[in-house]
Amino acid sequence: MNEMIPGQLDPHIQGSAFRNEAGESPKPSTMKNMTCIEDLRRVARRKVPRAFFGYAEAGSYSGETLRANRADLERVKLRQRVLVDVSARNTSTMILGESSALPIALAPIGIGGLQRGNGEILACRAAHAAGIPYTLGTMAICSIEDVAAAVEKPFWFQLYVMRDRGFARSLVERAAAAKCSALVLTVDLQVLGQRHADIKNGLSVPPSLKIKNLINMATKPGWVCRMLAGKRWTFGNVAGHVTGKEGVKALSEWIAHQFDPTLNWKDVEWIRSIWPGKLIIKGILDVEDAKLATKTGAAAIVVSNHGGRQLDGAMSSVSMLPRIAEAVGSEIEVMFDGGIRSGQDVMRALALGARSCLIGRAYIYGLGAGGQAGVATAIEIIRKELDITMALTGVRSINEIDRSVLIS
Ligand SMILES: Cc1cc2nc3c(=O)[nH]c(=O)nc-3n(C[C@H](O)[C@H](O)[C@H](O)COP(=O)(O)O)c2cc1C
Repeated sequence: MNEMIPGQLDPHIQGSAFRNEAGESPKPSTMKNMTCIEDLRRVARRKVPRAFFGYAEAGSYSGETLRANRADLERVKLRQRVLVDVSARNTSTMILGESSALPIALAPIGIGGLQRGNGEILACRAAHAAGIPYTLGTMAICSIEDVAAAVEKPFWFQLYVMRDRGFARSLVERAAAAKCSALVLTVDLQVLGQRHADIKNGLSVPPSLKIKNLINMATKPGWVCRMLAGKRWTFGNVAGHVTGKEGVKALSEWIAHQFDPTLNWKDVEWIRSIWPGKLIIKGILDVEDAKLATKTGAAAIVVSNHGGRQLDGAMSSVSMLPRIAEAVGSEIEVMFDGGIRSGQDVMRALALGARSCLIGRAYIYGLGAGGQAGVATAIEIIRKELDITMALTGVRSINEIDRSVLIS
């Protein structure tokens, strides 16, 4: 990869970010034409079995909120400024008091390890090599312990509070034992949103992949080989930790009954009391909820509608961001996600009050397209776009980005 774009790489991502899972530099031809996230998406669509690619793409029900996330971001227009000396630019910032090479972190993605064998480990390595945080999801294929053993720096862990509070507590303890540097508590999945494509593809409870999906998988030998070599294809954080539940079918049934509609602010208090580190509350889309979140002792909130996968018909994340940031931005760190596919989008979110952004599908496409090198490419694409966008809007550092970079 270093050979691919001579002289243009950020020092943060040279080296291991551009090595594949076997530790080799990928062939220049593999990723050299990937100039935008859409390129990675197209390759991922080719390489990843249809059911799993569809799972990553989909939104809930009619996809109204999924589409609004993108459409509303694109409506935010940047202000072109000229004759400002922008020769010295810096994309680094602080996220939760720690320095980050970019104002982005990788979002938690359930069963991300089905986009590519050992996917969570690969994504975490790419994030760390790029100098940004990575979030491992409760519903990951690789377990907390798998990832901790495979990387050198702490990562964030995302928690779903299950009905079985003993299990939830054990996840928190395992995250603490693995020295996770933040706990991301997802609060917008008290019941599961429905994605039509998943049901049609057999990604239901219990899973029942259709013959057509199995045939489709057989047409992706690279994916199959990597999955077999990776040796991980179940819910890594759950398997072996719930008595009497073995096998993907039993585990998925157990999990489906574990999402808890009783989840409430008292549970957040409880999590706060058992988690000693930084807490991020993810899935806030309402000013009232944001204000309640400031009273919990959490370090940050993520303004998010779960990438349009939960309440269909909800407002886009970006349309709620300014109101929420205005209401609570001085009391709690405001993060943002939903629809980010470019550095321009990161700039838009920062200008509207976010201090940093999570990216979801943008890196998942990279993972499906090229494993660790693909995630590194996704991060590098966004870094370069952000850097160029900063130059063309006349800003040199992340903390200079505010409403003034937008057409009001
Ligand atoms: C395939 C997929 C799986 C996801 N799984 C989780 C999850 O397990 N936990 C969670 O908190 N959010 C999950 N999310 C939501 C993301 O963390 C994030 O909020 C969302 O992807 C942001 O939108 P974007 O994909 O448009 O960037 C998932 C999103 C996708 C696309």
